[in-house]
Amino acid sequence: MDIAAKQAELDAITWYHEFDFGNGLRTKTHCAHIEGHRRLWRFIESHLAAVDFRGKSVLDIGSWDGYWSFHAEKRGARSVLASDDLGQNWSAGRGIHLAKELLGSSVQVDQQQSVYDLAARGQKFDVILFLGVYYHLHDPFHALAQIRHCCHPDTVVVIDGPITEALRPGAAVYDLANHLCEWLPTTGALEELARATYFDAAVAGYLDPLPDPPHPAPPPGRLGWRWRLGMCLDALRGSRTAVRERLDRVLPPPPELLPLPWRRVVMTCAPHEGEVGLHHYRPPFGLGAYDPRFQNESNVGRAA
Ligand SMILES: C[S@@+](CC[C@H](N)C(=O)[O-])C[C@H]1O[C@@H](n2cnc3c(N)ncnc32)[C@H](O)[C@@H]1O
Repeated sequence: MDIAAKQAELDAITWYHEFDFGNGLRTKTHCAHIEGHRRLWRFIESHLAAVDFRGKSVLDIGSWDGYWSFHAEKRGARSVLASDDLGQNWSAGRGIHLAKELLGSSVQVDQQQSVYDLAARGQKFDVILFLGVYYHLHDPFHALAQIRHCCHPDTVVVIDGPITEALRPGAAVYDLANHLCEWLPTTGALEELARATYFDAAVAGYLDPLPDPPHPAPPPGRLGWRWRLGMCLDALRGSRTAVRERLDRVLPPPPELLPLPWRRVVMTCAPHEGEVGLHHYRPPFGLGAYDPRFQNESNVGRAA
């Protein structure tokens, strides 16, 4: 192998994870704040240590450069499907193929596989990894319903992502303009989502202690005479807009407009079959198939 040429090939790719392929061949991550990412990878790895991959079929959803797929293979998985939807990724998707070649891996790669279409594969897996994906989705409920259809009774699902506790318990926020985090749930909301899609979920651990709640910094110093005089004039004119704009320039934003503090969680889920009290009528996406109250009405969506 021409090491220099291979390293140049590696360097031409935008990598998320850090791989060491031996022979001095390494990937350089494009991530800023690399120490934070390394902590996250160690955190996930420490929780995956509790998963027995030996002889198991594994589905890795949103596998990107395949880091966790190769991890599962190294830990003894019988088969690994590294799935991703390249239409939802800003990488060109070449990294996983080059890593696979350099690792001599047998991982199967499907980069046209949206999480929203998983059930159509008609496959069940022993272990499903859903790491770092849910908070990028427009419809996490639909995604988890699809994942549920890929489970047999003993499947283990491992979920990782950010949660906030700065909302009322059970709440979540959508911010579809924020491409770092489109959906941010509380732990309660994530647990409820899992329950509503027929999983028994348990928090395995948090990466950090509970962050402080957001609090606006006190405005610095005394207001100047020009501001005070201008405010008087705006008030005398009776202009609500001018008064508001003048206040906005000196007051901190209200807490609900500040970025929410968050931390990372790993949750493990086991498929649930039985009544789920959250649903008073037939749940969508074929989930009624797991609830005796709706089984006769709906087997739609339940993969064979
Ligand atoms: C932050 S990366 C996580 C990569 C890896 N799982 C990890 O934990 O390091 C998010 C991944 O989710 C994938 N993704 C986003 N939306 C998706 C969808 N609808 N279906 C499948 N994958 C999706 C992206 O393409 C990307 O590979």
